[in-house]
Formats: sequence, structure tokens, C-alpha cells
Amino acid sequence: MDIGKTVLVTGGSSGIGFTISRHFVKAGYQLLWVSLFQKEIENAKSQLQSEVQDCKINALELDLSLPDAAQKVYEWVKHNQWHIDVLINNAGFGTYGFSTEIDVNRELNMIDLNVINVYKMTRFFLKDMIDHNKGTIINISSNTSFQPTPKLSAYGATKSFVKHFSRSLNEELKILNSKVKVMCVCPSAIKDTNFRKAGKMDNLKTFSGLATTTSEEVAKDVWNGFIKRKDFVISGWKMRILYRISGVVPYRVQQFLVRKEIKEVY
Ligand SMILES: NC(=O)c1ccc[n+]([C@@H]2O[C@H](COP(=O)([O-])OP(=O)(O)OC[C@H]3O[C@@H](n4cnc5c(N)ncnc54)[C@H](OP(=O)(O)O)[C@@H]3O)[C@@H](O)[C@H]2O)c1
Repeated sequence: MDIGKTVLVTGGSSGIGFTISRHFVKAGYQLLWVSLFQKEIENAKSQLQSEVQDCKINALELDLSLPDAAQKVYEWVKHNQWHIDVLINNAGFGTYGFSTEIDVNRELNMIDLNVINVYKMTRFFLKDMIDHNKGTIINISSNTSFQPTPKLSAYGATKSFVKHFSRSLNEELKILNSKVKVMCVCPSAIKDTNFRKAGKMDNLKTFSGLATTTSEEVAKDVWNGFIKRKDFVISGWKMRILYRISGVVPYRVQQFLVRKEIKEVY
């Protein structure tokens, strides 16, 4: 067991943040969570503590879409003299619909959480990791970063930012000969988290379609990718196959299939 190591997971108290946390806590990591709702945090804490003896969990209830959120998280960590070995930028949500019809403030809030907060959290914690020449940042992107995503236009764009930023930073770290890694994870549509309901996407074909995955599968892929020190993880075996063959499928065929995937089925 790696006693003494600490992982900070945003949105760790539910969804894939929770299932990923379980792998780390079983390996002896101290868990730090930052999530939106105290009640969710308390329930999730009790569940993990009943599963894993002596697991250490500290949590901060905070809206990460606020402008000073990343700084507050950094100050919380410094105040408690924790050293972050792994940062997982996972908290995020999606908006669905035609871009001219979606509530503009909801989309701006999504951009604040999915892009600005990921950028700021990475900027705060990466510097310390580089100074210590160790650590990993795991940023959760999405398969929506692979191609245009009608009716998920802004959401897909936020996840494209996460992918491009993460992969580019990781290449910078190689130039610096640093042992720090930024790993980017792209899950396909996950059937069993709150994401689809929160984004009013419950009836989208993609959640029962060709390349769906589960929170357990994503957590396993993230953990294995972390252990193997991978740069880039496509989560969900069906999505990995589709990604490989997508290189030989013409763009118009790919987009025809995407349009079918985002159809409402009832
Ligand atoms: N589900 C999918 O199909 C899918 C596919 C690809 C990528 N992803 C990405 O995977 C990540 C996790 O999604 P999920 O499926 O696990 O969704 P989820 O079940 O809705 O979990 C989202 C987590 O983010 C937290 N969160 C949301 N807004 C927040 C805010 N303003 N401040 C702080 N925390 C906030 C939530 O905290 P509370 O529990 O306190 O509300 C929750 O723990 C997201 O970045 C998402 O974009 C999801």
C-alpha cells in the first residue's frame, strides 16, 4: 500500500469521480474531494468508509464554477499542508439542444466549470508538481472531443479544450524532461451516472447506442492508464474500436452516424 499518497478529485462524491476514487482509496491513497453538495459528500463518504477500512477522506463543499474556486481549493490544500500526488479534474456537466435555444447563462456556467476551472486548477497544481518533479494530473475529456457534436456544440467544445490543453501540456513536460504527467481521458457515453439527467439528455440514443460504457469500466480504464503511465486513455472498449476505424471512415459518414446518435428515442 502506498500510505501517505494523496489524490484530489473534483466531483469525487458521485458518478465516475466516485468510482475512480474507490480505486485510489483501495490502493491506500488519502482522498480529497471537492463537490457541490454536502449531502452527496456525506453519503459517498459513508459508503466508501464502509467498503474500505481506515480510509481517509477530506472534502470541501464548493461551487467550482465560481471565479475564485481553484484558488480556494489551492489554499485549502496548502492550509492543511497536504501534498497532492494526483489531481483529477473530473467535475463537469453538459448542455443539450440547439445552440440558439439553450439558456446562455447555463452554457456560460458550463464553460466556467468545464474549461476555466480545469485550466486554473491545472495552473495552480502543475507548478508544484514540476518543482517536485513528480505527480500526475488526470483531466476528464470526452468522446465528444473527437468530432463535431451537433446539439452538444458548446459541451463538445469544452471537452476539446480539455483534450488539447492536456495533451499539449504533456508534450511540454516531455520537453522539460519532467517526470510529471498529464493524462487525458475520453470516456464514451456513460449509462449509469447523473450526467444525462442533469443535462436533460435522458432520452438520447447515444446512451443506449453503439459505444456506451459504465462508470465501473471508466474507473478501471482510468486506474489502469494511471498505473501504466499512459498519456491518453479512450475509455470503453467499444469506443476504442470505433476510434481506431474512424480514421478510414469518410467525414460525411461519421457525421451521419453522429446525427443518429444524438436523436431522441422517446
Ligand atoms: N456521463 C457521460 O456520458 C460522460 C461522457 C464523457 C465524459 N464525461 C465527463 O465525466 C465527468 C464526470 O461526469 P459524470 O458522468 O460522472 O457526471 P455526474 O454523475 O453528474 O458527476 C458530476 C460530478 O461533478 C460535480 N459537480 C458538478 N457541478 C459542480 C460544480 N459547479 N462545482 C463542484 N462540483 C460540481 C458533482 O458534484 P455533486 O455530486 O455534489 O453534484 C458530481 O460529483 C464530467 O466532466 C463529464 O463531462 C461524462
